[in-house]
Amino acid sequence: MKKKITVLPGDGIGPEVSRGAVEILKAVGERFNHQFDFIYSLIGGAAIEQTGSPLPDKTLNDCKQSDAVLLGAVGGPQWDQNPPELRPEKGLLQIRKELELYANLRPVSFNPSLIESSPIKENIITGVDLLIVRELTGGLYFGKPSARTIDRGEESVVDTLYYKRKEMKRILVTAFELAKNRRSKVTSVDKANVLESSRMWREVAEEVARDFPNVQLEHMLVDNAAMQLIKNPTQFDVIVTENMFGDILSDEASMLTGSLGMLPSASLSTTGPCLYEPIHGSAPDIAGQNKANPVAMILSAAMMLRNSFQMDEEAKAIENAVNQVLAAGHRTPDVVQEGKRAVKTEEMVERIKAAVLDHAAISNIMSIYA
Ligand code: IPM
Ligand code: MG
Repeated sequence: MKKKITVLPGDGIGPEVSRGAVEILKAVGERFNHQFDFIYSLIGGAAIEQTGSPLPDKTLNDCKQSDAVLLGAVGGPQWDQNPPELRPEKGLLQIRKELELYANLRPVSFNPSLIESSPIKENIITGVDLLIVRELTGGLYFGKPSARTIDRGEESVVDTLYYKRKEMKRILVTAFELAKNRRSKVTSVDKANVLESSRMWREVAEEVARDFPNVQLEHMLVDNAAMQLIKNPTQFDVIVTENMFGDILSDEASMLTGSLGMLPSASLSTTGPCLYEPIHGSAPDIAGQNKANPVAMILSAAMMLRNSFQMDEEAKAIENAVNQVLAAGHRTPDVVQEGKRAVKTEEMVERIKAAVLDHAAISNIMSIYA
């Protein structure tokens, strides 16, 4: 197969981890005989520096003309004082909106070889396998007005939490569809004891649930969900929630796996290419030091293969390679075991790449003897 992938490395550690993911995809191409063409484009702070805009038109066009998009990370302290329209994060929000990436899937599963890296006790994280389905193009991130004002002489500020009913419906339907192929349980997270938007969300969730009689629906208040994720995370299958709650809960949930550097994500659109990005940020404090964990980005590439290209076996090859390298004890500093040597980003990538290709050698040998 031949596929066109737009790569948006972005800022901070974005370029390092993107390079890693591209290396791994090239290895997959070699092993499975696919041609991946990579187009590089600017987003975030890097785009502001070179073009004056966090999401240049060229970037958007490149994305629209490709089969999938891989994004590193955006943001950094040098742009913190910029006006809202000229912040790197604006580029990310705009691309989500422009490509209609309404559903962000953030799978969190327990990895036996990383047990000691999680700050949570082993008996609590053992068996965790949950999927956060985060609404990505609405809510507080996009509502207008969002501005500082002077209200009767007093300095004040407003952000707006706005949703259309149909926006709630489509993300809830996606969550139920996904639950059907998992353990058939949806936990809808809201703040219905306070927010009107959450009361409507609950209503829509009930309505959607009627079309999925074999999927169990439960409602959970977001503060309780934050607590339950630490207390008893194995109770969850699919968690569906609005944009900002999903942002917060997914960072929290990442610690069940040991590090933010482990979690991939897929942002789905029904109208165009989907986008794949790690859930972590640009980590400016370690950028350019060859210390970043490339696993979240590499696993995002695996999600791309499975979801956008229906390359299930290829995706598994990457996931197996990652597991194999982690199980052998090779770790970046964020998940290194006490007393062990931490591996650099590039070494981690090389090892994963070797594991992807080695399987090829093994299966060739197997076919000779078959
Ligand atoms: C994420 C990030 C972004 C978000 C930031 C960088 C705008 O935290 O993808 O989780 O809040 O959506
Ligand atoms: Mg976040």
